Amino acid sequence: MAAREHPAPVKVADRPLTRDARLVLLGCGGYIGSHLLDTLLVDPSVRVDGWDPRPDKIRHWLDAPNFKLRRAMLNEPSGLDDLHECVEAADAVINLAAICNPAEYNTDPITVIRSNFLDSYKVVEICAEAGKWLIHFSTSEVYGRTLASYVSPGDYDCDAALYELDEDETPFLMGPLSSQRWTYACAKQLLERYIYAHHAQLGMPYTIVRPLNFFGPRMDFIPGQDGEGTPRVLACFMKALLHGEPMRLVDGGSARRTIVSIRDAIRAIVLMLEKPQSAANQAFNVGNRDNEVTMAELADLMRKIYARITGDDSFLKHPIESVSARDFYGPGYEDCDRRMPRLDKARDLLGWTPSVSLEETLLETMTYYHDHYAVSRRQAG
Ligand code: UGA
Repeated sequence: MAAREHPAPVKVADRPLTRDARLVLLGCGGYIGSHLLDTLLVDPSVRVDGWDPRPDKIRHWLDAPNFKLRRAMLNEPSGLDDLHECVEAADAVINLAAICNPAEYNTDPITVIRSNFLDSYKVVEICAEAGKWLIHFSTSEVYGRTLASYVSPGDYDCDAALYELDEDETPFLMGPLSSQRWTYACAKQLLERYIYAHHAQLGMPYTIVRPLNFFGPRMDFIPGQDGEGTPRVLACFMKALLHGEPMRLVDGGSARRTIVSIRDAIRAIVLMLEKPQSAANQAFNVGNRDNEVTMAELADLMRKIYARITGDDSFLKHPIESVSARDFYGPGYEDCDRRMPRLDKARDLLGWTPSVSLEETLLETMTYYHDHYAVSRRQAG
C-alpha cells in the first residue's frame, strides 16, 4: 500500500450504525461476539458479515437472513478470501478475534504473539486501505502493572494517580522479558500502536476498546465438559463448585479486578455504534469501578451465591486453597495487581455508565453456568 502523508482523517458516519448498517465482525463466535450478535441482529436492517471458526455460541443465528458466517481463522489462506470485499461494503469493522486466556501467555507465547499481532495487523491495513472505521478490542492488560505496585507495594490506600488507569495518560508498565505473561499485553500494545499509526499517518478512523473483566453467560468453558485447559477465573471457580473440587487462589488471591456485566459492556459498544462521531479516534476503558474485588473475596462471594442458586448451604463452606502462581500457571507468570479504570471518557462522550452490581452479575452468570453445566452433567452421569 502506498503510504500517504498525513491526509485529512477519513470521516465516520454521522448517523447511528445500529440501523440500516453493514458491519464486519471478526471473532463473532466468541463470548463477546455472541452477545453483540444477540443485540445487533434483532434489527433486520443491520447486516453482519462474520468470521469465526467456531459457531457453538452463535448457532441460534446461523440461519438468520441478515447474518453470514465464514468459518475461518484470519491466519488460514481462505480466511481473508472475501474480507476485502466485505470491508469495502461495510460501515464499520469490529475486531474481536484474539487469544485472551492468561494460562496460554507463558505456556504458548509464540501462538499468543502471532494470534494477537500477526493475524490482526492485516485487518488494520485492509481497513486503512478501504478508509473504514475499525473498532478494535484490545485489553486492559496493555496498562500492565500499576505504578503503585512498584512504588508502594501492598498499599491500596495510596494516591489514586498511582493505580487508576486513564486511557490517554497512564503509562504501560510491563515486567522483564522472562516474564512471558506479558507476551499478550505486548502484542496487543503493538497492535494499538499500529492502529494509531494508521490513523495518524493515513487518516484511518479507529476506536480502541479496553475491556476490564466482562462477566456473563457463555464466558469461556468448563474444563472436562466443553473444553480442555485452564480458563479464566470465573470458569475456574465455577468448575470447582460444579465438580466438587477446591477453588484455588493464585498466590493467596490478593490480585484485584473490577468486574463489569456483559450487559453493561454490550451497551457501551452499541453506544459507540450509535454515536460514531463521538466514538471515533478514541480509546475507551469499559469496566465498572463499583465492582472491585480481590480474588479471595470473589471466591467467597461465589460460594455464597452458588449456595443461594442451588439451595444447598454446604457450598458456603466449599473448600478454598492457595496455590503458587508457578504451580498454577507455570514459570513466567506475573500478575496484573489491580485494574481500576477511569471511565470519564465513556461517560462524557458516549453517555455510558455501568449499572449492574457485582452480585447481580454473578447471580445471572452463575445461574447460567448451573443450568447449562450442572444439569447436563447430571444427565450425562
Ligand atoms: C484476562 C485477560 O488477560 C485480559 O485480556 C482480559 O481483559 C481479562 O481477562 C478479562 O476477562 O477482561 P485476568 O483478569 O488476569 O486477565 O484473567 P483471569 O484468568 O480471569 O484472572 C484473574 C485473577 O484470578 C488473576 O489474579 C489470577 O491469578 C486469578 N486466578 C485465576 C485465581 O486466583 N484462581 C484461578 O483458578 C484462576
